[in-house]
Amino acid sequence: MTDEAAKPGHKMFTSMQDAIALVTGGASGIGQACAARLADQGARVVIVDVHSSPGHSSIATKHKNHVEFVVADVTNESQMLSVVEYIRGKYRRLDIVITSAGICEFQPTFNFDNNEPHKLDTFQKILTVNTLGTFNTIRLTAGLIGLNAPDADGLRGVIVIIGSTTGIEAEMGLVAYSASKAAIHSMTLPLAREFASVGIRVVTVAPGLTDTPMFRVNPAAAQEGAKKKWASLAAVPKRLVTAEEVAHMVTAVIENRAVNGEIIRVDGAARNF
Ligand SMILES: NC(=O)c1ccc[n+]([C@@H]2O[C@H](COP(=O)([O-])OP(=O)(O)OC[C@H]3O[C@@H](n4cnc5c(N)ncnc54)[C@H](O)[C@@H]3O)[C@@H](O)[C@H]2O)c1
Repeated sequence: MTDEAAKPGHKMFTSMQDAIALVTGGASGIGQACAARLADQGARVVIVDVHSSPGHSSIATKHKNHVEFVVADVTNESQMLSVVEYIRGKYRRLDIVITSAGICEFQPTFNFDNNEPHKLDTFQKILTVNTLGTFNTIRLTAGLIGLNAPDADGLRGVIVIIGSTTGIEAEMGLVAYSASKAAIHSMTLPLAREFASVGIRVVTVAPGLTDTPMFRVNPAAAQEGAKKKWASLAAVPKRLVTAEEVAHMVTAVIENRAVNGEIIRVDGAARNF
């Protein structure tokens, strides 16, 4: 990083090599692919995640000087404030935020076989991590992005939210997850409008079924079933989305300054799950 880049008030990055990025959920799956792609393009990336997965150590080793890992829970105000203070202290600025931290769990709203309603704490946990955690990250990081001096377009930075096609149309059993993703989709336009005055774009990338550890925790038979169903619904390609394809869209959004306030599907035109 140049001395100029280290000064607060430095204009928004013109190439990834000048950019400082924060990626929540960056130790795994889509977040990790985003962090790797940004680092490959020269950005400095701070990953925020709750655990030290093997994925985290491999990404940190591969991108030694470009990726660092900070343990924090996106739902925790003081931990996320500490992350922002850490970035402010070390880099003096922040340009890109990608919110990829999330959890998913299947549960019927009412199980008619054993008369069991959906657990309220499961619903609460999913909404807390996916929705509140995303909002917490955005509300605490926007101020630091806003300190960048605006460029000729009045831009200071960009926030990319990882949504999901399940926020638009989801299969049964995913009521909590679907609600959590629909909620963050709904934040996109009001956030883009609110942050327009300071030049921060806000865009949601909504992946379809993506081959990541979140998907692979399912039993093998369930994975095979979901793959077949997805293939039958997708126009083309008739396979799961890859984390790298999602990361590709995320970096396209970061680079394309005209994209704002939009929800972009990455799903091979799969519909009606
Ligand atoms: N895999 C899919 O099919 C798919 C499809 C659409 C959207 N998504 C979304 O993409 C995002 C990434 O999912 P993924 O598939 O890469 O899953 P993943 O499980 O591989 O990665 C999610 C990461 O988020 C982290 N995380 C969870 N709770 C956290 C918390 N409270 N604080 C900080 N980090 C936390 C996890 O530790 C993990 O590293 C999620 O928001 C998910 O909802 C996934």
